[in-house]
Amino acid sequence: MQFQLSENQQMLRDTVRQFVEKEAAPSVARRDEEGIWPTELVKKMGELGLLGVAVREEYGGAGLDYLSYAIVIEELSRVDASLGVIASVNNSLVCHGIEKFGSEEQKRELLIPLASGRMLGAFSLSEPGAGSDAAAQKTTAVRDGDGYVINGIKNWVTNGDHADTIILMAMTDPTKGHRGITAFLVDTHAPGCSIVKVEHKLGIRSAHSCQMAYDSYYVPAWRRLGEEGQGFKIAMTILNAGRIGIAAQAVGIAQGAYEAALNYTRVREQFGKPIHEFQAVGFTLADMATRIKAARLLTYEAAWRKDQGLDYVKDASMAKLFASETAMWTATKAIQLHGSNGYSKEYPVERYFRDAKITEIYEGTSEIQRLVISRELTRD
Ligand code: CAA
Repeated sequence: MQFQLSENQQMLRDTVRQFVEKEAAPSVARRDEEGIWPTELVKKMGELGLLGVAVREEYGGAGLDYLSYAIVIEELSRVDASLGVIASVNNSLVCHGIEKFGSEEQKRELLIPLASGRMLGAFSLSEPGAGSDAAAQKTTAVRDGDGYVINGIKNWVTNGDHADTIILMAMTDPTKGHRGITAFLVDTHAPGCSIVKVEHKLGIRSAHSCQMAYDSYYVPAWRRLGEEGQGFKIAMTILNAGRIGIAAQAVGIAQGAYEAALNYTRVREQFGKPIHEFQAVGFTLADMATRIKAARLLTYEAAWRKDQGLDYVKDASMAKLFASETAMWTATKAIQLHGSNGYSKEYPVERYFRDAKITEIYEGTSEIQRLVISRELTRD
């Protein structure tokens, strides 16, 4: 068993850490406060190869392994969880989906620009009535000549208002339930696709989440991803891998909150000494570091299993479940260790706390992760 990261993985971690500390950290609080989309930072992530980390080089990616991808998302999120999810959606929900299920034409036309950062992607499964019950799709795609006409409303489309290409799920045959769902690679610049609203959110506020409408939107048949009726399976398979990215995001948020708390308890003095010298504080730091280490190991192992070609569905869900709950717990304790300062926007821990919450919700709630894990356990 090998627990040491390779030299390349360590260098990648250092590079991403330097990038976010220098370029993202100074503006993260203002972008969060005002919900500002990080245009320049997204461009730089593309230039650094962070938007197609595990995509093969011939398709515009950096050609690294999935563990490297997890490290990238962790490091981005340690400073700015919004950057973490913007990159995660493009990498694992979009690029990975096209690389796995796309035709050669789709890879040439769409994957290359998406993985190299010249285009941005989004993933569109959720609807007003289809959250955890993802198969309850109401958006329809009706065959029309050499294409399909799409009508419907999609919710919670991360990157939606800046995306060029969206993997969108729609019903092509409502009589077949989940086997009537088909995936499409939608061009957001074509007529009939619009943003209804950008959500006003608790956290990850500079990553935009949109409600989007499709009104007699025409998509040519070459943009169908996979076969008709394969869309649900494609969405589930994409989410299996995506959940490793969200687990990594949660590890990064937890690490950021922990480091903030550690630093604060070293300088904050009460009763004549730094507060980390009080056992209650020291033990909380110990619990934080222990839980984060466990979450990181689960996340890296899930990524490693994917790299080895092993089954990783249960492992990805376990990693996401544990890491997201660790992020929420750690951020809550980080506020507590800051006392009333933790409740103030002068300190970063309230942002980590708000950002952590979404990791227990998107790409499958903690309840859905428990469902996936328990089904996999009983299947075994
Ligand atoms: N991997 C691959 N295939 C899977 C799968 C998985 N994890 N889970 C189910 N499937 C397949 C099944 O094998 C079955 O295939 P067949 O057609 O061959 O029978 C099919 O999908 C239907 O499976 P179920 O009967 O188990 O479906 P279900 O409706 O009972 O449950 C669910 C499915 C697990 C609850 C699923 O709906 C789910 O994961 N829900 C959560 C949705 C989710 O994660 N949404 C996230 C939105 S995207 C997002 O957040 C993006 C963002 O912007 C950050």
